[in-house]
Amino acid sequence: MTAHHWHVLGAGAMGCLFAARLQDSGCDITLVVRDTRPDPLALVLEDGEDTREMKFPTTTAADRAPISHLLVTTKAYDVVDAVSSLAHRLDRDSQVLLLANGLGFASELSGRYPWLAPYCGTTTEGAYRVSSFRIRHAGHGATRIGRSGEPNPPAWFAPWRALENCLWEQDIDSALWEKLAVNCAINPLTAVHDCRNGELLSRPELAREVDALCNEIARVSEAAEFAPIAAGLRARVEEVIRNTASNHSSMLQDCRAGRTTEIDYITGQLLRVADLHGIAAPRNRSLLEQVKRLGG
Ligand SMILES: NC(=O)c1ccc[n+]([C@@H]2O[C@H](COP(=O)([O-])OP(=O)(O)OC[C@H]3O[C@@H](n4cnc5c(N)ncnc54)[C@H](OP(=O)(O)O)[C@@H]3O)[C@@H](O)[C@H]2O)c1
Repeated sequence: MTAHHWHVLGAGAMGCLFAARLQDSGCDITLVVRDTRPDPLALVLEDGEDTREMKFPTTTAADRAPISHLLVTTKAYDVVDAVSSLAHRLDRDSQVLLLANGLGFASELSGRYPWLAPYCGTTTEGAYRVSSFRIRHAGHGATRIGRSGEPNPPAWFAPWRALENCLWEQDIDSALWEKLAVNCAINPLTAVHDCRNGELLSRPELAREVDALCNEIARVSEAAEFAPIAAGLRARVEEVIRNTASNHSSMLQDCRAGRTTEIDYITGQLLRVADLHGIAAPRNRSLLEQVKRLGG
């Protein structure tokens, strides 16, 4: 098995978690940081009772050495600028994997760099930064990776297969759309009502709001040719709410902290598709505006 050299752009919670896991599976790792940091950079990764110190070489966008494999784990709204800052280190043979939440940044990137053809992924792993150099792996989940129209994984996927619960997804477009649809039905509502996910079912006025949102999102999903997702959406949303009932969504946490949210790449993307098909989605539009007033 060939283990490649991966540069990880976005050395936050997810980036450091995947850097550690890929290093464990034999890959060389370099963290791309914004500015000059200690090289190597020492990080502590907490996982259950386990605490490990790991060291990674670092690089910045100012360097010039070519990058063969790039994993992007910035927030959705940073993806295009962050990858652009490294464009001089990428070429047609570079493999780029985008693991941020939401949709829309991959096509923005392809518009700017038609030769890039990024892979995309979605993960339900959970991690957060305890401090700048300390990451806690808070929840074990599944990761699915793919590229539109590519049923079989490329050679670089071999060491990824060794990661816990990491799969090649034959229909990544559907996987990403389903995640987007579910996020649209849950995250903005929890942010606007400042509530845990579970309250979206336990409070009748919010449960009615979820129903109405799901109807709108299902109409857009159908128009976007994701009919099976449209048909199963209400049940899937309920399942996710039940499984994450005690969670505060990341959108709510961002709003509480006054941070920019990823809503432009979640509800914003749903609305771009709705507009394309001439579908009115007033509830989603209103939530987008309310969340942008709260968090940006
Ligand atoms: N954390 C989770 O549990 C989780 C779970 C599932 C999905 N996700 C998704 O994964 C993505 C990353 O989330 P996260 O929680 O890991 O975010 P995060 O901790 O904020 O990490 C993002 C990192 O990207 C860095 N960055 C942004 N622009 C950069 C640039 N131009 N050059 C170098 N570094 C740059 C940020 O640096 P600065 O701090 O300097 O801005 C930050 O360190 C999001 O889309 C999120 O929704 C996260």
